[in-house]
Amino acid sequence: MRTIMVLNAKGGCGKSTLSTNIAGYFAHAWEGRFGLIDFDPQRSALDWLKRRPGHLPYIAGFDGYSNGIASVPADIELLVIDPPARCHGNELERMVSYAETFIVPIQPSPIDIGAASKFIQELHDLHRVQNKEVKIAVVGNRVRENLKIWGDLERFLNSLKIPFVTHLRDAQNYIRAYSRGMGVHELPPYLGRDDVAQWEPLVKWLESKQSVPKQRKVVPLQAEMHPVEAAAAELANL
Ligand SMILES: Nc1ncnc2c1ncn2[C@@H]1O[C@H](COP(=O)(O)OP(=O)(O)O)[C@@H](O)[C@H]1O
Ligand SMILES: [Mg+2]
Repeated sequence: MRTIMVLNAKGGCGKSTLSTNIAGYFAHAWEGRFGLIDFDPQRSALDWLKRRPGHLPYIAGFDGYSNGIASVPADIELLVIDPPARCHGNELERMVSYAETFIVPIQPSPIDIGAASKFIQELHDLHRVQNKEVKIAVVGNRVRENLKIWGDLERFLNSLKIPFVTHLRDAQNYIRAYSRGMGVHELPPYLGRDDVAQWEPLVKWLESKQSVPKQRKVVPLQAEMHPVEAAAAELANL
């Protein structure tokens, strides 16, 4: 099973938005058995799944808050994990033990960047991370303009060899997609095009070996999963 977690201790940075969009992207672009597990008592990811129209590719939902990670059946090929907010210490260590690929969304404000730097340092010091059993990338979220605010964070990430893969804009499409139980990749192309383009570096990273720890001997996406041809053609036409 491939496991991807969107992690940051800060509430409201976009964990559920990115989790649902990653699940939506893979369900849209790949054929396979997809799962989304929600560890947050607010249940935003599970509420999104409830809104998902029946004609869209199926994503199985799991209540991690009530039932834990053991509720996910072994035949799920790709699992997206939405963790709780304020995850530190032992709880952070437990969450980090559930996944191999981590995405840290950060909003472009000095408060968020300062808090995220401390969080990334805490993450980086964990045994599993030191042992190179996981891969981490950072994503700027709700970015309104080309701000010069990221400089120090980028230098810090460089020193830890953590890539800053993309900036996602602040857009009504994320609200729209959430309320329809979709990811931005599943919106009509005339609506979603700009956001899909911003997701490109992130999905490329997730589909590459760079997002999979070396110690793991399997291909990034399991052999049984195939790209959906229509989705691939759509991306090629962007
Ligand atoms: N890129 C974005 N553009 C617009 N709104 C966003 C974006 N990312 C998140 N939001 C909104 O910000 C709020 C917090 O996001 P959410 O994903 O629930 O954060 P978290 O799960 O980290 O608490 C939600 O109302 C969500 O719709
Ligand atoms: Mg959330």
